[in-house]
Amino acid sequence: MTPFKKDVIDLFSGKRGGHVEKWLYSDTPRLSKSGSQLWHEFIKTHPDYYVLSNEIALIQRSAKAIGKNLKNVDTLVDFGVGDGQALNQKVIPLLNTMRGIKTYVGIDLSEDFLKAAQSDLKSHKPELNLVSINGDFFHEKLDLPGIKRMGLMLGSTITNLELKEGEEFPHARIVKRLKHLKSMLGQGNHFLPSFDANEDVPSIQKAYNSPIWSEFVTGIMYDVDKIAYGDFSPKAWTHEMIWNSKAHALQHCATSTANQNFSFNEREFRILKGQRFVTVNTFKYPQSVFTSMAEGAGCEIEEYFVDRQARICLPDLVC
Ligand SMILES: C[S@@+](CC[C@H](N)C(=O)[O-])C[C@H]1O[C@@H](n2cnc3c(N)ncnc32)[C@H](O)[C@@H]1O
Repeated sequence: MTPFKKDVIDLFSGKRGGHVEKWLYSDTPRLSKSGSQLWHEFIKTHPDYYVLSNEIALIQRSAKAIGKNLKNVDTLVDFGVGDGQALNQKVIPLLNTMRGIKTYVGIDLSEDFLKAAQSDLKSHKPELNLVSINGDFFHEKLDLPGIKRMGLMLGSTITNLELKEGEEFPHARIVKRLKHLKSMLGQGNHFLPSFDANEDVPSIQKAYNSPIWSEFVTGIMYDVDKIAYGDFSPKAWTHEMIWNSKAHALQHCATSTANQNFSFNEREFRILKGQRFVTVNTFKYPQSVFTSMAEGAGCEIEEYFVDRQARICLPDLVC
């Protein structure tokens, strides 16, 4: 069975939630655009999505100070490259402050994002060696070039985690994830993963209140449609947001607007109108929670960089 089919079975059987997030960024076309195009359009057009603008402002304001801690770094590893705006407004300002930098390694599940990043960097930073890895950094142990590496994981990707509706904060799983990334980067190297510490729920909900985000969240149903037999409609899904205070997470669900009976891989599914499935979680938790997880993973926090609204945090960890 393909990994996609297995993940979809786990979703519809209520075994797991939010684990399908990586498929949302798929390059295959949905109703109007592919998942990666929808993500790109969402962050470009939705003014309340402070997560991006605050992170850009934070990096641009703190790039010099961050660079001071990274003088000897020869290789920047960008875990989850994303679209050109992330590269141009967040990664390149940091690269510009890193004097010893020789190599940029981009890792992403989306080949489109990797290709675009390579072409942007060729023109903006022609002196760099460029390496692209089309892989899964949370589930694979990837071989990374370089010796003095610095890992960068922006866009709060560190906490893009699976969680079913109503479950508690996945502290132990984030610690495990940090340990895995630490082992790829190598002891003594720096790792900067951003996260969102905003706990003002109305502003969080506003940040995701966009039809494009809704199309992104439910877009996976177009991929399911290609494998499902019977009465399945990719259009019969709507986006619902649920604030889970125990988990510090806004849980994004695809909710069925009709009864649907379908099958694939000899499994039958009877989905009722109103039944919902978490396709992605967006976590928002205080700095103290991150500090305890980083310490649990054996990382030292050299410094915390925080935006002016005290929402986006960028800790400089030493592995
Ligand atoms: C939240 S976006 C952040 C993108 C960018 N760094 C930014 O700051 O806007 C997450 C990115 O990581 C990629 N991604 C998510 N999970 C991944 C995984 N397990 N392995 C590799 N790439 C992944 C996605 O394709 C997407 O480009």
